[in-house]
Amino acid sequence: MSRPAPKSFHVKSFGCQMNVYDGARMAELLEAQGMHAADSAEAADLVVLNTCHIREKAAEKVYSDIGRIVKKTADVGEGRSRPMIAVAGCVAQAEGAEIPRRAPAVDIVVGPQAYHNLPQLVADAAEGRRALDTDMPAASKFDALPRRRRQGPTAFLTVQEGCDKFCTYCVVPYTRGAEISRPWSAIVDEAKALVDAGACEITLLGQNVNAWTGEDDRGRAQGLDGLIRVLDALPGLARIRYTTSHPNDMSDGLIAAHGEVAKLMPFLHLPVQAGSDRILKAMNRSHDAAGYLRLIERVRAARPDIAVSGDFIVGFPGETDEDFEATLAIVRAVDHAQAFSFKYSPRPGTPAATMEGQVAPAVMDERLQRLQALLNEQQHRFNLATVGKRCEVLIERDGKKPGQRIGKSPWLQSVIVEDGPAIGTLVTVDIVSAGPNSLSGALVEQKAA
Ligand code: SAH
Ligand code: SF4
Ligand code: F3S
Repeated sequence: MSRPAPKSFHVKSFGCQMNVYDGARMAELLEAQGMHAADSAEAADLVVLNTCHIREKAAEKVYSDIGRIVKKTADVGEGRSRPMIAVAGCVAQAEGAEIPRRAPAVDIVVGPQAYHNLPQLVADAAEGRRALDTDMPAASKFDALPRRRRQGPTAFLTVQEGCDKFCTYCVVPYTRGAEISRPWSAIVDEAKALVDAGACEITLLGQNVNAWTGEDDRGRAQGLDGLIRVLDALPGLARIRYTTSHPNDMSDGLIAAHGEVAKLMPFLHLPVQAGSDRILKAMNRSHDAAGYLRLIERVRAARPDIAVSGDFIVGFPGETDEDFEATLAIVRAVDHAQAFSFKYSPRPGTPAATMEGQVAPAVMDERLQRLQALLNEQQHRFNLATVGKRCEVLIERDGKKPGQRIGKSPWLQSVIVEDGPAIGTLVTVDIVSAGPNSLSGALVEQKAA
């Protein structure tokens, strides 16, 4: 059965920043086809659910979302049918044709390496043809995407994709494929386009962003620090960040860059996952707790005020009380500015899912609560330690009250500024107070330029 080609679309992204980036690029692609963005799924002719498979809860969310969209648009009337539904992202890659079997309302399934084919898939679906593409082609999808446009003050830029680390709990190596690095010139061109489109801050992204390798325009071998240094020279760009890093790819050059590159912000997200060497080994992390602590020490020697962030998993199979205490111990030793922590979720096809010693849900709940209490306390203390400091804030959005603006400190804290200037300006503030989740900043009188 054929149906009219969609004129409007709505992209909803779940999961990591790489999905947010992909979502923005899909939107740009659909706009280049003459479609326009709708504010909600209900108001759109095409809904793209850009999904995440990392934990069971995230993966199941797509099915409840589809159900809700179908229900809400069942009787839109006036000859309109329900929107075309596309499932993109990591659930699409992991479950493929299983998705329309379970949710027949789904018209399109497109994996993270194939979304440049979305216009063709939409045309196929409009003709009533089955539209599924989960290929991981040799040619890069990036070459087939339109130039970047229309940005706010902060932008993501994917430089590396995929993962070869195969941590035993993780689906990413299966959903995103092998590690690949985008070429130097493509990244520099995209960064320039982003700055031209209004970005003052660029966050370089990759599942293992610090595994990026390539050659510069003179054929010299480079790592992520080389990319950071070339972007540092881009006029109009004020701030550089990168995420997510793996401890094993934290090179000397990258550590040194934290002490030398002015635009590189003092923030490092470097997940350790657990503090017990026995559990780290079972996770296949190929670093131990002591090695991780040495790395943090070296990074802090290069940049003493760096804010350290991480990810933690509690209740990995076989985790004893003693192992969990080792996680609390490494958290205390590192002292985080912020962190994410999760209950272990068994994922189909990963080695840990069939390991012995799966931990009872009640035990995981209790451990997660204790860990989060400690991490929250550290975050609050870190925030309090910035009170009295003078720093720059990049204004990103309006606050709740009139005149109020919200921006980010160099350490990635949200800062509320009363009578703040326009979005996209970099201002100097004095931090006057701090809560667990945000700071208040008083604008410092700026000298006229
Ligand atoms: N590439 C990054 C993170 C990718 S996923 C890294 O290596 O750190 C983001 C976070 O989700 C991971 O750091 C991990 O803490 C968590 N995670 C991954 N798989 C998980 C699982 N099966 N259960 C619970 N948390 C998981
Ligand atoms: Fe997953 Fe480990 Fe790869 Fe990170 S390094 S994406 S946790 S397999
Ligand atoms: Fe989720 Fe895929 Fe990112 S599984 S965390 S969206 S790489």
